[in-house]
Formats: sequence, structure tokens, C-alpha cells
Amino acid sequence: MDYVSSAFSVQDKVTIVTGSTGVLGGAMAHGLARAGAKVVIVGRRVERAEEVAQAIDRVGGQAMAAPGDVLRSEELNQVRDRVLSQWGRIDILINAAGGNVPAATILPEQSFFDMPQPAFEQVMDLNLLGTVLPSQVFGRVMADQGAGSIINISSMAAQRILTRVVGYSAAKAAIDNFTRWLAVEAARKYGSGVRVNAIAPGFFIGEQNRRLLLNEDESLTERGQQIIQHTPMGRFGEADELVGTAIWLGSAASQFITGIVVPVDGGFSAFSGI
Ligand SMILES: NC(=O)c1ccc[n+]([C@@H]2O[C@H](COP(=O)([O-])OP(=O)(O)OC[C@H]3O[C@@H](n4cnc5c(N)ncnc54)[C@H](O)[C@@H]3O)[C@@H](O)[C@H]2O)c1
Repeated sequence: MDYVSSAFSVQDKVTIVTGSTGVLGGAMAHGLARAGAKVVIVGRRVERAEEVAQAIDRVGGQAMAAPGDVLRSEELNQVRDRVLSQWGRIDILINAAGGNVPAATILPEQSFFDMPQPAFEQVMDLNLLGTVLPSQVFGRVMADQGAGSIINISSMAAQRILTRVVGYSAAKAAIDNFTRWLAVEAARKYGSGVRVNAIAPGFFIGEQNRRLLLNEDESLTERGQQIIQHTPMGRFGEADELVGTAIWLGSAASQFITGIVVPVDGGFSAFSGI
């Protein structure tokens, strides 16, 4: 096998993707399966998880639907047990479940001072706790194996201030910090085989942000226009464009890399806007 094929191989790597019932997690699950990984589709909606797994099976991939809520450790333990009994190990974890909570967003006519506490707690829980708990449950298996790669999903909101999304931004910034913290902890305590990195996607059209970025007729909203103006490549990302980075971070090609956050953003984070 040539260098590129072997270094970037994810063949038969058991890969858990939380939130793979959604747009970005789904694209990464499909992409890793196309590259030969055995993927585990974790999402709260059983039927949706099964649909995604069947779609992967239909194109010749290997997938298992394992319904689970990332905020419930006991459900994650069940997922872990099923995966270990069927496939015997866990090589890659992609923490893609997450997203914004509209009530933790400050619209132009609203005030930060009135933001309801439960909304802030909810968005912190979904994104931060929803990354920490799967990292505990599946990361423990990696620590025992002495090998594994955790890939968290951050956001541009963690490093560049985006108006309105106060709770989401705080939660994603905490994910960047947690990525570095766990990377250090894992390498020092469990060896260099256990790595933790993150991907910070720029702007992709998803279920949650479609109405924020596009009008009914698919033209750009004002916020959509601002984003495109600040993205040097002048377009939104396609979900498949995350796959290459996920394969790189999940494979031996990145074996000396831990604790980084990789922007996949068409240049958004590099650009001052001028
Ligand atoms: N779309 C973007 O432009 C963008 C940009 C940056 C970061 N992100 C992040 O990427 C990730 C995926 O986003 P997306 O656009 O694909 O969103 P999405 O809504 O399409 O997918 C998220 C999935 O997570 C699932 N989910 C929600 N709560 C869950 C829970 N408690 N347990 C298990 N599953 C749960 C949802 O059912 C959904 O299928 C999120 O973390 C999001 O914050 C998205």
C-alpha cells in the first residue's frame, strides 16, 4: 500500500458519530463509511438513526444504528456495550450532536438582560455536556486500548464574535478549551495513541440555521449576506467538505497532532472583513 493510502486509512476503524442523524454528522458518517470505516449512528430519533444506517448499508458501507441521547450517560453506556459486543473496539468518536437553542439567542428587538436562564443552560448542556459525556463513556474505552481519536465539533462562534448567539458561542468556546484540556490529559495519562482535536466548521446550511441564512425563495437573508461577505471563498460550505479533515484527524496521518481546532471555513477566520 502506498504512503497516502496507508497513513490516511480508516479502513475498519470503528467510528461513533453522535448527531449523525443531522446534516454535518450525517455527511461525516457517510464519508467515513465510504472510506471503509464501520460507523455507529447515534441520535435521539430511533427511526432517523436507522434511516441513516440503512442508507450507508445500501451503498456498501458498514453502519449500525444505536439510538442514544448524548445527555444521558446510561444510554451512552448501552451504545458502548452494543458497539463492543458487535465490533470489539472504538477507534474514532466524532461529537457532532449539538447546535443552537433559539431562546438563548438575542434578536435585535430583544435584550441580553432578559435571556431566560433555562435557555442558556440548555445550550450549554447540549453542546458542552453533550461533548463531555460521550468523551467519558467512549474515551474510557480508547484509554483502555491505548489508542483512539476524539474529534469535537466547534464553531466559528467560539473564536470570532457573532452577534445574537451568546449561549451557543460560550458553549462552543468551552468545547475548544475542553479539546485542549482532554488532549493534554489523555496524552500524559494514556499515551500518545489517544488524541483529541476539534473541527470548527464555518457556515454550512443545516436544518437549524436554514431560515436564518436563506429566505423562502433561497435568496440570502441579511445575515446570510453578511456571512458570505466575510467568507473569502464567497459561499457556504458543503457538508461533504468536512470529511477530508475528519479522515485526517481520525487516521495515522495526524498521529502527532492533538489539542488543535481546525477551521474548515472558506477563510472566514482568517479575514478581518477589510
Ligand atoms: N451548520 C453549520 O453551519 C454549523 C457550523 C458550525 C458548527 N456546527 C455544529 O455542527 C454540529 C452539527 O450541526 P448540524 O448543522 O449538522 O445540525 P443538525 O441539527 O442537522 O444536526 C444535529 C443532530 O444532533 C441531534 N441531537 C440533538 N440533540 C441531541 C442529543 N441530546 N442527543 C443526541 N443527538 C442529538 C439532532 O437530532 C440532529 O440530528 C453541531 O454541533 C453544530 O453546532 C454547525
